[in-house]
Amino acid sequence: MSSNQTDVVFFDENGLRTDQRKPDEIRPMKIKIGVLSRANGSCYLEWGGNKVIAAVYGPREAHPRRMQLAGKAVIRYRYNMQSFSVEDRARPGPSRRSSEISKVSREAFEPVLFAEDYPKAAIDIFVEVLQADAGTRTAAINAASLALVDAGIPMRGLVSACAAGKVGGKIVLDLNKPEDNYGEADLPIAMTEDGKITLIQMDGHLTPSEFEEAMALVQQGCRQVLEIQKAALLEKFASVMDDEEDEV
Ligand code: CDP
Repeated sequence: MSSNQTDVVFFDENGLRTDQRKPDEIRPMKIKIGVLSRANGSCYLEWGGNKVIAAVYGPREAHPRRMQLAGKAVIRYRYNMQSFSVEDRARPGPSRRSSEISKVSREAFEPVLFAEDYPKAAIDIFVEVLQADAGTRTAAINAASLALVDAGIPMRGLVSACAAGKVGGKIVLDLNKPEDNYGEADLPIAMTEDGKITLIQMDGHLTPSEFEEAMALVQQGCRQVLEIQKAALLEKFASVMDDEEDEV
């Protein structure tokens, strides 16, 4: 986020963005559920230029034992960026940024998981960013949500994530890399199916009315993502559902 780049052109004469999107349009998303045979659940997701893979394990006995909680499962979320995922090499291992993203992403899932049903267990969510192009934390959450379903872990509903932001004085949905780099604000959120916000972060500056506008837009974005997630689940599990219906 840099406010000194006023010379960057974000919109063409038709009001379209550098990647030809309308201000309220998200980047194309591709999803494949169940891509890893060793994980209990997994999902590969592309969103614009982002490529992420999520793997879920559990509920399983939490190790090391000192991490066990007597009355509920411990939920662990690890967001990791591969060194080759960015333009400049990302330094391997945890960073302040990845620790922060892991923490807020874990908290984004806590309200939808039934941790109290699994004392002493762990639910482990790992997300690897293979290619980063702005919006990796939201892409990671969207993939993790589907990997949790693939793992058969009961949930109150899906979690969907998206960002809105301000570029060239306008509020837009799902910032791409130049918009993220040179825009004025970035507002990623995660939301449950029933509209509860489980993650909200903000980088940059928005006036109260711009914030309202961005919040309305980003919630619309999450609903668009939710529809794509549901379609991917249907594609993956429709045949299973058909088989079950045949058995009745
Ligand atoms: O990826 P996200 O938008 O959730 O997080 P960010 O911290 O706002 O980063 C925005 C983008 O900057 C990332 O998606 C990467 O494309 C890039 N980035 C990078 O090139 N090197 C890093 N160490 C971190 C981020």
